Amino acid sequence: MKTVGLVGWRGMVGSVLMQRMIEERDFDVVRPVFFSTSQHGQAAPEFGGRSAGTLQDAFDIDALSALDIIITCQGGDYTSEVYPKLRAAGWQGYWIDAASTLRMKDDAIIILDPVNHQVIHDGLNNGIKTFVGGNCTVSLMLMSLGGLFANDLVEWASVATYQAASGGGARHMRELLAQMGMLHDHVAKELHNPASAILDIERRVTELTRSGTLPTDNFGVPLAGSLIPWIDKQLENGQSREEWKGQAETNKILRTDSVIPVDGLCVRVGALRCHSQAFTLKLKKDVPLDEVTQLLASHNEWVKVVPNDRELTMRELTPAAVTGTLNTPVGRLRKLNMGPEYLSAFTVGDQLLWGAAEPLRRMLRLLVG
Ligand code: HSE
Repeated sequence: MKTVGLVGWRGMVGSVLMQRMIEERDFDVVRPVFFSTSQHGQAAPEFGGRSAGTLQDAFDIDALSALDIIITCQGGDYTSEVYPKLRAAGWQGYWIDAASTLRMKDDAIIILDPVNHQVIHDGLNNGIKTFVGGNCTVSLMLMSLGGLFANDLVEWASVATYQAASGGGARHMRELLAQMGMLHDHVAKELHNPASAILDIERRVTELTRSGTLPTDNFGVPLAGSLIPWIDKQLENGQSREEWKGQAETNKILRTDSVIPVDGLCVRVGALRCHSQAFTLKLKKDVPLDEVTQLLASHNEWVKVVPNDRELTMRELTPAAVTGTLNTPVGRLRKLNMGPEYLSAFTVGDQLLWGAAEPLRRMLRLLVG
């Protein structure tokens, strides 16, 4: 049985990972060792009904070196500090990471096995030992649109994202909800009075939004009742870093011969943990819609094509419907006025499941059988 070190299991992505590992009985097939950056020596958790002794020090290179596999959801700073030391110490184990730090390294593979299992298998055969989860929007796009990419039908993809607060982290989700609550509290009395004027209510909400009193430590500006058309750092070419990842990671995951352009605008909205994306796809040829539907639907067991119907779309293609599930639905499929090769698509997926924890869990499963 392989010994698996778990780092960052208490955080948001880590908690989702633990939950999924319990559901899939992954703890039955590994010997887990739990690490902590601050509480080593305390009792380890008992996930999967098995005691795992005490928490180990997540910075102890000797302790980490004894492991066959390490899974970390601890974040990029931890990876930057510990990974180079561990490899320099000669550690030959498998490193499975949720952070972006190592993603684009030549000796690392971005893992999304329903999409790139061949790339992963080839990597394993070639002695690759570092496996990194992809950016959530990229992974969710490929889970939903994988059928088109797998059949080499995409000439380019243009995207507008609607990204949930969870992408920023747990504190961002709290901040969004706190903002929502404050805005509501501010006008609750007037809202209950059907005779009150909606524009007066709106004015009071807008005043509070602009007053500087809403909590904005994490997002920087109010998100509730608004949106933020910028995610992550600003690059010199005018893209946000999140937008840059679209093309870079998609092509690395797919191991494309020639680069498929992927670009667009990434936007933070007031959803909790589902990222949605609106695509314009230029296909390499005019593929009939029923064929597009069939290719998409048959690509993996989690994608579901939602017919381009108002009722079904409203019921099934929203963050409210998808949150907490492994489903990665795609809908709003139609040919655009620009011509028969131009296809629209709308996707939704849980940013913490297929967007973060699930590819890591499945990589572990691949290694331990
Ligand atoms: N960077 C993403 C976001 C989440 O901010 O929504 C992680 O991939």
